[in-house]
Amino acid sequence: MLCKNGNMNKNFLWGGSIAAHQCEGAWQEDGKIMSIMDLATAGSRNRKREFTKTVEEGKIYPNHEAIDFYHTYKEDIALFAEMGFKALRFSIDWGRIYPNGDDEKPNPKGIEFYQNLADELLKNRIEPIVTLFHFEMPVNIVKKYNSWLSKDTVDLYLKYCSTMFEALKGRIRYWVNFNEMNHIDPMSDADDMFVYILSGLTNEDLGSTKEERKNKIAIMGYNMTLAAVKAVKLCHEADPDYKMGCVFGLHPCYPLTTDPNDNLYAYRETMRDFFQIDAMCNGSFPKYKLAEYEKLGLDVGYSPDDEKDFAQGVIDFIGLNYYYSEVVTTHEELKSNDGTLHGGMFNKYLKVSDWGWSIDPIGLRYMLNMVWRKYNKPIIICENGFGTKDVLNEDETVHDDYRIQFLREHFFEMVKAVEEDCVDLFGYLMWGPIDLVSATTGEMSKRYGFIYVDKKDDGTGTNKRYRKDSFYWYKKVITNNGKDLD
Ligand code: BG6
Repeated sequence: MLCKNGNMNKNFLWGGSIAAHQCEGAWQEDGKIMSIMDLATAGSRNRKREFTKTVEEGKIYPNHEAIDFYHTYKEDIALFAEMGFKALRFSIDWGRIYPNGDDEKPNPKGIEFYQNLADELLKNRIEPIVTLFHFEMPVNIVKKYNSWLSKDTVDLYLKYCSTMFEALKGRIRYWVNFNEMNHIDPMSDADDMFVYILSGLTNEDLGSTKEERKNKIAIMGYNMTLAAVKAVKLCHEADPDYKMGCVFGLHPCYPLTTDPNDNLYAYRETMRDFFQIDAMCNGSFPKYKLAEYEKLGLDVGYSPDDEKDFAQGVIDFIGLNYYYSEVVTTHEELKSNDGTLHGGMFNKYLKVSDWGWSIDPIGLRYMLNMVWRKYNKPIIICENGFGTKDVLNEDETVHDDYRIQFLREHFFEMVKAVEEDCVDLFGYLMWGPIDLVSATTGEMSKRYGFIYVDKKDDGTGTNKRYRKDSFYWYKKVITNNGKDLD
């Protein structure tokens, strides 16, 4: 052992993460009306999801039914328990609690569902970890209040948070205020998809000029950050034992060449995702970001009075979602067109999934180190996994050795980060332990699960669950706390 405390804790939270809109289905049941992802159609790697204004005839909206977790959660939790899960991160669909977003009173049926879900997990000795915003928002908030462009939405979000802090009292220790709000920033040419899944608005809705869009994206990013720190304060007030973190989707950008220009560029690209973590961990909104807004001529509505919210809303832990790394360069002649999800290039040293995501286990160790050294706050890996096609055999088996290989390599680096680098990591939540609807493409065929769900991209299938080979492997890893990864 290279460091005193560097050991996989015996209470390490092994488990998985899911999100309401990707698994629940039951899109109009028990009082829920319409949330933003109910208007996202099915796409594919090469065909973007469309975001329609109403449900259009003839189009497939995969989130309407998803994998029907709303009705099958007991059976699914039994399978998670069979694997020995210590924790499950799930999200609450805001629209189940306040179907219009601005209703005076919450919807009792929605509350009851999440109370039952948490109870079922606790019954199975699985720690429920709750995300309050994972791309779910009532459509009415977008239409009536302009989504995160307005401070009214911040207030509505806080009211919803308070409702849940009370409703789930005694059941929850760990709360997550937002999932991956870092994906929209004026310095990136944010893809429609990222803008939409966080706000229910598309780039087109934001304005006709690039400047207008940049300003609005900056406002939304700022308002969400403000909402996040205000939620932390409310959370701590609701129960001093509550811990609240925020989950960020982070990836290292490597320089393609040793040209210092490339290095500087890669540093900036990596760091672009960090201003909100800085704001939530350091107790003040970063001055470099305010200066950047000023330089770009953007007015996000920042007021020095907001500083007290940042001071009082420091998060307790950081959630890391890690999937891949990217390569960037300033050399036009070296750039390739086969851009990755965020516009970077592929790495010749790494393999790539069928969906174009590089496979980089060392990038996980790199990111864990970076986040730990920057903030000295406990970290939990809230998402990591391998989305690919699986084959269900006639004998009801799924031989997903590629997924085992992916996870094994990532676990190997994760254990090194803990045991050799002394990163304070308290859990690993694999995304998505049961096959569910892909967020970026809307496909079922981009499968992550230990559990296969018989559902196809066109919505057909029995919806039956089957254990994949990785199911038994993960169970073994949990039993020996990551010591034996074979
Ligand atoms: C994360 C999101 O960014 O990526 C999840 O938090 C999402 O919601 C996951 O599902 C994987 O992305 P995809 O598009 O493969 O589902």
